[in-house]
Amino acid sequence: MTDTTNPSKTKIRWGELIIVWLILTVITLFGSLVVIPHLMPRPASSAMHLNILTMVVFSCTAAPVGSMVYAVGAYALRHWSGGSGAEPPSDGPPLRGSNPVTIVWLVVSTFLCVFLLIWGLGALATDASAAGHSTVTVDVTGQQWLWTYHYPGTSVTSQDLYLPEGKTVTFNVTSLDVVHGFWIIQMGVKIDANPGVSTTVSVTPDKLGVYDVKCTELCGIYHAFMTSSVHVVTPAQYQAWLQSQQA
Ligand code: CUA
Repeated sequence: MTDTTNPSKTKIRWGELIIVWLILTVITLFGSLVVIPHLMPRPASSAMHLNILTMVVFSCTAAPVGSMVYAVGAYALRHWSGGSGAEPPSDGPPLRGSNPVTIVWLVVSTFLCVFLLIWGLGALATDASAAGHSTVTVDVTGQQWLWTYHYPGTSVTSQDLYLPEGKTVTFNVTSLDVVHGFWIIQMGVKIDANPGVSTTVSVTPDKLGVYDVKCTELCGIYHAFMTSSVHVVTPAQYQAWLQSQQA
């Protein structure tokens, strides 16, 4: 029987702890690799593919760490909770001055943090390099509570956004009143629309279809209804649409 009153004298059952950890890790890895991509929106740009891959990689990286926390929690509940009416167990053995624990902790967390940092910088650089190949520009204006799109070089403005497939688009985003957030969900594009300032973001839509725009900053009573649609059409259809709007 386990000594529930003095865990410092209880030998830790490493085998049990490690098995629980491995089982939880397998479950969370399955969730990261299979469930997360399933829950994410249908991607319509390479940026969104990268976002989903980032979600998967970061979740996989976190899986063994989080699983260890839950495994230790489950182990403690099972062996050290003491049952109803029992005296609370005393503290476990202190780890202060334990070189192996310190070294493993520092090395593993440094490795994980540096990996995530390099991944993040790489993803930012990928997004930034897309902006350099931009061939289409759209001015995006947010206001309570709608989005307006203007296509520079034309007299066209629209409430639904039209984009040509396969062309890199740069959005110049601003606001007429309060801070809004311009988010094309399936393209992984999200940037604040600030009054008096123009922020830019670029994306290359790579799939024909209709996608969703939402506002991501709480901007007043109809914030939740500040939506619009993105129509990704072929470049020929895009030119035809622009001409039909100017006529
Ligand atoms: Cu605009 Cu919320």
